[in-house]
Amino acid sequence: MDIKKYFRKQLLDWHFTANNRQLPWKEEKNVYRIWLSEIILQQTRAGQGMKYYERFIKAYPTIEKLAKAPLEEVYKLWEGLGYYNRCKNLHNTAQKIVFELKGKFPHTYETILELKGVGPYTAAAISSFAFGLPYAVVDGNVFRVLSRFFGVDDPVDAAKGKQIFQQLAEECLDERNPAAYNQAIMDFGAVVCKPDLPDCTNCVMQKKCFAFQQEAVALLPVKEKKTKQRSRWFLFYVLEQNGTIAVQKRTAKDVWANLYQFPNEEYTEEKTWKQAVKKDVSKWLQVNNIRSTHQIVSITKPLKQQLSHQTIYATAVLISLKKNEKKIKHFEWKSVAELQHLPFPKILNDLLNAKILQLFQLNDAVIKQKT
Ligand code: ADE
Repeated sequence: MDIKKYFRKQLLDWHFTANNRQLPWKEEKNVYRIWLSEIILQQTRAGQGMKYYERFIKAYPTIEKLAKAPLEEVYKLWEGLGYYNRCKNLHNTAQKIVFELKGKFPHTYETILELKGVGPYTAAAISSFAFGLPYAVVDGNVFRVLSRFFGVDDPVDAAKGKQIFQQLAEECLDERNPAAYNQAIMDFGAVVCKPDLPDCTNCVMQKKCFAFQQEAVALLPVKEKKTKQRSRWFLFYVLEQNGTIAVQKRTAKDVWANLYQFPNEEYTEEKTWKQAVKKDVSKWLQVNNIRSTHQIVSITKPLKQQLSHQTIYATAVLISLKKNEKKIKHFEWKSVAELQHLPFPKILNDLLNAKILQLFQLNDAVIKQKT
């Protein structure tokens, strides 16, 4: 069997027998509802989108009701979805259809594409779902499914790659049932051929899937502009004085924004800790001879945390300040009990629980304060 035919058949068989993804707009034939669901789904995932869809349908069961509603009221229903221009376009398009087109929703792909807020993906979805027109949806889900199954390694974020996927998508489309085909590939990408941890074991296309057979699932689809992986080395200084510990809130637009942390320095490579420690501590505490004022209790082994595009290594340097020395102003000094209620990044919580409290011999204090 031709490979595209096989793909189409397996996809549709899966859709009609095993696809149990339930979404309120599925099988919907009312074009207003289809359009509304697709606009909401430009903004959010299906799970969250359902809530908004139900809310809109309840407030505006028809396109006339939406067109006649004050914009401010529609904004209120949209609250939380963000990108308010999309909401404005939704309202504007409803008014255009009701007042200029006498309530008749455009019926062709080209005229649907002309509507504000409707791009090629949404136009293909509406054309196929509402009018049975043979237009294939192409988005990130579709790139992923097609690139893995057919082994297409052209970058999906380059013009040439986009063209190749568009053509392949059109060739795979079931022209006799474009609505079912489009819904099937959307759902298949969402529940089986997922970006991470795809369900290859139970996949009905496994036998002929290029990526599965070649063990290349994690390598496809290919992106030209690789998001760079970087390593970050953090030296966290855990300063203790009289049973309190210095913390600060992370404010930068970066990992862990708004969470708490210990004073730290960041390096792009593994440094010789001791050199860095002397330099860093002297800088903060504005002292030259750190031995006279501080005792370095311990330096922990680095803990590693893998985020999507960065590998983070965190080492804690535990320093006891002399009891009566004046506290350094620009930190917040928290008791151990207070620390338990502050939001910390996971890696710091791990350090805190595994090492820091023990090394400062503060466990007794924690237990006492907790009870
Ligand atoms: N994403 C965009 N449109 C969708 C639809 N109709 N069903 C599921 N996911 C979607």
